[in-house]
Amino acid sequence: MILVKRNVDAEAIYKEVAALMVERRQCVALTGAGVSAESGIPTFRSKGGLWEKYDPIEFASIEAFRKDPSKYWSLRGEFIKDYDRYQPNKAHLALAELEKRGIVRCVITQNIDGLHKKAGSKNVIEIHGNLMEICCLTCGKEYKAPNIPEEMPPHCSCGGILKPNTVLFGEELPADVFMKAKEASAGCKIMLLVGTSAIVQPAASLPYLAKQNGAKIIEINIENAFPDADYFIMEKAGTALPNVVGEIDKIRRVNLI
Ligand code: APR
Repeated sequence: MILVKRNVDAEAIYKEVAALMVERRQCVALTGAGVSAESGIPTFRSKGGLWEKYDPIEFASIEAFRKDPSKYWSLRGEFIKDYDRYQPNKAHLALAELEKRGIVRCVITQNIDGLHKKAGSKNVIEIHGNLMEICCLTCGKEYKAPNIPEEMPPHCSCGGILKPNTVLFGEELPADVFMKAKEASAGCKIMLLVGTSAIVQPAASLPYLAKQNGAKIIEINIENAFPDADYFIMEKAGTALPNVVGEIDKIRRVNLI
């Protein structure tokens, strides 16, 4: 692994990583909560993260939801109170730029905040669903936040309980969505692993799938979460990704590509 700590040989490594991305292209990004941290959304397992305060099984498992949906809905209120308040940060925007430049093929995200799409990324695979989409557990009617009934927990017009279209602990990922993520991972030549602790399955299997198929793994995180990365840039995503875009643009200018 090539390790980059803040301000240590950083310039050389950004150059090397950028050259690799221009040469190989077919890059897939796998992102986690760390990519949205600089938008003001709390992570789950970092210091001060949501799971430090709340037991995920008690608040965010399907069993707990079925027993007492208002517990989950109250956590959701804390997690993301006002959807429009949260805006994409420089990391989301840089990934969208990399897609426009034909380098990033798709973003696979564990995040449910919708910020990659809001930043302009077109090919986004939201493997844990999207917080804005709500559906009735009884009749299947769909609601779109913020147009959800205000009671706690919210009920559908048919009387059924409403549940966000997100994957809770104990639930399977939608098979078609995860299949797309697996195909993208197996077919990429570079995987950018950004702001994820890379421990929650099945998402955590994707970098291994990429590596088994010959991809190089470039991790961007404030701490090394994936020991098998080929490159590790220890930096905030909102700093590191624009640096990578800047270096790629320098190469493109020189080579007129
Ligand atoms: N830039 C880059 N990385 C960051 C930043 C930042 N500004 N801030 C935090 N990080 C890193 C942390 O070091 C940590 O490795 O982001 C990671 C966040 O990890 P988690 O909180 O575990 O989030 P994530 O990996 O997305 O969790 C996966 O777990 O609870 C479930 O469903 C939830 O999708 C989530 C899944």
